[in-house]
Amino acid sequence: MATTTWAPTSTPATRRRWTFLVSDARRVDLPDGRFDQVLIFGLLHHLPDADVRVVLSEAHRLLVPGGRILAIEDIPAISKLNLIGHLIHNIENGEYIRPPGEYRRLYTEKTTVEREEVLQSGICDYYAAVMVK
Ligand SMILES: C[S@@+](CC[C@H](N)C(=O)[O-])C[C@H]1O[C@@H](n2cnc3c(N)ncnc32)[C@H](O)[C@@H]1O
Repeated sequence: MATTTWAPTSTPATRRRWTFLVSDARRVDLPDGRFDQVLIFGLLHHLPDADVRVVLSEAHRLLVPGGRILAIEDIPAISKLNLIGHLIHNIENGEYIRPPGEYRRLYTEKTTVEREEVLQSGICDYYAAVMVK
């Protein structure tokens, strides 16, 4: 399903059209090289390696040469004292929460990781990586 709407902060002078497309990330019905950047947030930790490869391959296809993917994904809670973080990951259905190295291994099969960072939010911890096509 695709729908076109207006950015909520737009004014008549700055108004730009935004299109929101609801789609399976493994198969996005848009032409190659359509985007400069792709954001993947909190998706890959729900997917097995085979599907992660398909999603990354699709993101790669949609990017222009030199385009970038920013992926921010849950990692196991770093601190043993972060009881809420451990609890959330036990009850939340992130069946494929990986340590950073496992995400990096998947990412570098098809892209170069330009920058990476572990983010400790206080509850959930994340691995953020910028990949370049
Ligand atoms: C943890 S939520 C994160 C949602 C959002 N990115 C956020 O940060 O609020 C994971 C989302 O991934 C979606 N999802 C799972 N498999 C998907 C797929 N193959 N294609 C697109 N979305 C998918 C689920 O429907 C769910 O909304």
